[in-house]
Amino acid sequence: MSVPSTNGMLPPPPTPTRGVRILGTGSFVPDRRLTNADFERMLDTSDEWIVQRTGIRERRVLDLRTEGCSTIAQRALERALESSGLKPTDLDLVVVATVTMEMTCPSVACRIAGAIGATNAAAFDLGAACSGFVYALNVAESMVRMGRARTVAVIGAEAMSSILDYTDRAVSILFGDAAGCAIIQADPDPRVGCIYQHMGADGSGWQALYIPRRESDVPAEDAANPIRLGCLRMNGKEVFRFAVTKFKDVMEDAFAKTGLTPNDVSQVICHQSNVRIIDAAREKLNIDPSKIYVNIDRYGNSSAGSVPLCLDELWRAGKITPGKPFMLVAFGGGLTWASSVWQT
Ligand code: COA
Repeated sequence: MSVPSTNGMLPPPPTPTRGVRILGTGSFVPDRRLTNADFERMLDTSDEWIVQRTGIRERRVLDLRTEGCSTIAQRALERALESSGLKPTDLDLVVVATVTMEMTCPSVACRIAGAIGATNAAAFDLGAACSGFVYALNVAESMVRMGRARTVAVIGAEAMSSILDYTDRAVSILFGDAAGCAIIQADPDPRVGCIYQHMGADGSGWQALYIPRRESDVPAEDAANPIRLGCLRMNGKEVFRFAVTKFKDVMEDAFAKTGLTPNDVSQVICHQSNVRIIDAAREKLNIDPSKIYVNIDRYGNSSAGSVPLCLDELWRAGKITPGKPFMLVAFGGGLTWASSVWQT
């Protein structure tokens, strides 16, 4: 007997007995700025080209001699705990979405849980590239909803500067370092929490965006190009084509499945990949610009850090209206994509 796919297709369990609430958020970016003017000095590029094609003006970068993904993940987590009024020992799970961990073992989640004294928490990293935070939030929310966890710190953190080839002008100008965190907790009101989620992947398109570790990881069609092992490799045009279509489709699906319209949500929080990709989806779905937050001009694309960084800025600015739904949408390497619609 074939098993039907449940990915985004089924409603939540018939009678959820508990809801899930976002208690607080936090984010952190390094102080060091890398502006378009800095790139003009380093590479054959211009502020005009970068702004016109991407909307990016500057990004933040770590000092990789002493800092890494764990540094910013921990700071975002500490800020989220502070905004939630919780102690580290209140957490029973820490999940970090990242593809730029300093070491594959231990995980960033284990390191930062240990560093802050979250002694009651399980901890693991999750890899879904730029979709990572939305994937992690969906997984964590489902665990809390099911009673498998009570209080979870969900973090998206990325040290993109550690995987960039700064001689590659087509890729290096796009990315920056950032981390964000949301702390979620079980709530007696079953109506609050994630009311719809969808996660998808198409591994056949992985060559559009990958980080080769060995010569043999490089696909034949890319072999003639200058490749630096350990650095992000991207086919910009292919990713752009995929993103423009997928972004719109994922949002359209989430609106259709929940019966919501763009007027019903307080915010659609999008992965910050390129302002042209965000604008294309917004225009196709006729969403008011005030409902789609953009901070890519200040931070570039921070992969799994981008959605929680936006969420934190909006949360602190009071733009996530209590009682109204909001939506999170992301896509990225893998290829992957994800949405999450929350009732607050
Ligand atoms: N400065 C100046 N020129 C640049 C440049 C830069 N930083 N990077 C590339 N170019 C050049 C190219 O070499 C090319 O020159 P040529 O015509 O002489 O060959 C020209 O600009 C056009 O390059 P192209 O790649 O066609 O540009 P584009 O319009 O597709 O824009 C991106 C490039 C990367 C901005 C765009 O493809 C994009 O945003 N893709 C999606 C990337 C993304 O979102 N990735 C993350 C997904 S999570």
